Amino acid sequence: MTNQWRLDTLDQTLVLLSLNNRLPCLIYWGRRLPDNENLNSLSTAVAKDWGDNLLDKVPELSVLPEQSANFPGQLGCKMRGLDGMILSSNFVFLKDEAKDNSLSLVFLDKAIEQTYTLTIISFEESNTYSLSAKIDSKKPIFMDWFSAPVILAPQNSNEMIDYGGQWGGEFRSQITPWVTGTHLRESRSGTTSHANFPGLLIPTIESSENSGSCYGFHYGWSGGHRMIAEQLPDGRRQVQFGNTENSDLISGNSFETAKLYISHSSNGISGVGKSFRSHVANSIIKAPKDNVRPVHYNCWEAIYFDHNIDQLKEIASLASEIGAERFVLDDGWFKGRDSANSSLGDWDVDKNKYPSGLQPLISHIHSLKMSFGLWFEPEMVSPNSNLYRQHPEWIMGHKDQTLGRDQLVLNIAIKDVEDYLFKKISALLTEYPIEYIKWDHNRVLPYPDASQTKSLYVLLKRIRLAYPKVEIESCSSGGGRIDYGILENTQRVWLSDSNDAIERLRIQHEAILWLPTSITGSHVGPKVCHTSGRELPLAFRAWVAAQRHMGFEMDPRELSPSDKALLKAVTNWWKENREWMKDANILRLPCVDKSITAEIQINSSENHFVVFAGQNALSEFSSPVPLVLSGLDSMAMYNVSLYNKNHINSLSKSNGGLLQKTFKLSGQFLMNHGLQLPKAFPASMMVIEGDKAA
Ligand code: GLA
Repeated sequence: MTNQWRLDTLDQTLVLLSLNNRLPCLIYWGRRLPDNENLNSLSTAVAKDWGDNLLDKVPELSVLPEQSANFPGQLGCKMRGLDGMILSSNFVFLKDEAKDNSLSLVFLDKAIEQTYTLTIISFEESNTYSLSAKIDSKKPIFMDWFSAPVILAPQNSNEMIDYGGQWGGEFRSQITPWVTGTHLRESRSGTTSHANFPGLLIPTIESSENSGSCYGFHYGWSGGHRMIAEQLPDGRRQVQFGNTENSDLISGNSFETAKLYISHSSNGISGVGKSFRSHVANSIIKAPKDNVRPVHYNCWEAIYFDHNIDQLKEIASLASEIGAERFVLDDGWFKGRDSANSSLGDWDVDKNKYPSGLQPLISHIHSLKMSFGLWFEPEMVSPNSNLYRQHPEWIMGHKDQTLGRDQLVLNIAIKDVEDYLFKKISALLTEYPIEYIKWDHNRVLPYPDASQTKSLYVLLKRIRLAYPKVEIESCSSGGGRIDYGILENTQRVWLSDSNDAIERLRIQHEAILWLPTSITGSHVGPKVCHTSGRELPLAFRAWVAAQRHMGFEMDPRELSPSDKALLKAVTNWWKENREWMKDANILRLPCVDKSITAEIQINSSENHFVVFAGQNALSEFSSPVPLVLSGLDSMAMYNVSLYNKNHINSLSKSNGGLLQKTFKLSGQFLMNHGLQLPKAFPASMMVIEGDKAA
């Protein structure tokens, strides 16, 4: 029997075809098909031709490529019985269930007594699908590898884009050409990791940043993913995403993948970004929609472990003067935590540093009309801690393992550990008016273990349920745990430990395809950047932070009166603009001059925009290349001006450019010729505002 299923979003269509009751193949995913497209014709039209004698048909590339289908490439699932023998499935159609925007298909293998369930949800508004798969087995099995529904990737594409990176230098995009064989990416550190953001972009041959077809993928799992992008000898391509191989350490009767999010764009790479950002903001993040994002102050790079109430009060007062609205007390507040090598796990306030508890500091912060947030690193324990001395058996891995930042990882899959952490965190959330948690995770796991990640999700959910108003920020030495799985229970990410504004500009530029600005923390760091040793101008540091969810992290006592005035002015600008920027359409603006990293943010009424053009290095050209804008109304006129003229240090000799004048220009001109930027020193941010003329 032949079965077809079709699922649409506003702009996309996805069609699955099952022949002879076998597992379905994704035969179409792309721009929305006409409503009257005949699926029978489509099913015939996609049939493959071949010319060799190896098999009498081209093996199916199904949502779970099986050995029993003679699939010649990487299989969608690898499982074993308890005796260690490999189990080979041969699933056949059992039933389907289609609701408004979701489709569930169930397949059965009688011989091995298993069912395979595929669930797809289409999100009309955000133009995104989520796909997941589940295997239920009558007998317990070991699952070595299980891919979320496998996607047939386009053959009219030359390359794919994914990410490497490192601590302090996350989101390094890399381009890999499609060639026969597999491109494998895997995080084996037990977390998403700095080096393995689980995202993939496949632009087609005709596409560019803001036009043409592009296919986007994101795997929403915080325990480390495995991605296989394979080109078969017959030219077809498959994309598999799943949890790290062999991270299910124990046998079980039921295994489920995390959600794979996919979105096709007809507007180039940036269209994928638009859909994913909207999906994260509207369907994943659980925060009130009218949530005003407060300006943060985080004390980490100001004081590290050196907590002193009077100094903290002074810092809070100064931070408030420049515009901070939330004060986050970072690491160092709990008993004995005077350096990175002790006390994790002992979540009691240090009475030496805070003799009357945290309340005097919190009261001061409240008197400044700021809310209060507190740092935790719940999943960790220091060997030098009371908790470890009492419960050495609560850790993951061997006691003699290599430490990371002098710490071990708690096995939170042990129920007593989860309960202990819930109790300690709740005690503080109950005793103090804490509105925000910075939830850190600073070392890799000794081995990948899916149950650790599942237990983390349970703990986070428990805390969110008990304290629904408390927002949580996901930090893992900066961007080590950023994915849509963690974002189901957190409301902000600490994108990177690098407050070096040049590096941050690059990281933000890459991450904007995956994360809304409103959840992407960005702080103005100290004068001398702690991760690079670089000294960058305050105006540049401030404007880079103002591109995202703004905050400060330097010691405000280092600021001169003019620094304070500058920072206050940029912060005020951000406060005035944050509402519309939260929902802005953001397009990256590619420039032949690699010394410019630029984007345009356009408000939802499409009558106002701001361009952030960052001069990240010395240009190779003596005269700046015009910056071509995107996303404007070509027939409309715009009044365009450089907002922050006095923040641009420059050797500029012209007296007729943006540094001196405002311009009235058409969208057509701006999107074809482009905007002539001033000649600026490296580490300058040009903030150009445009308003549609009446
Ligand atoms: C990690 C975080 C920092 C800070 C420190 C505290 O490195 O990324 O922002 O919170 O831990 O120890």
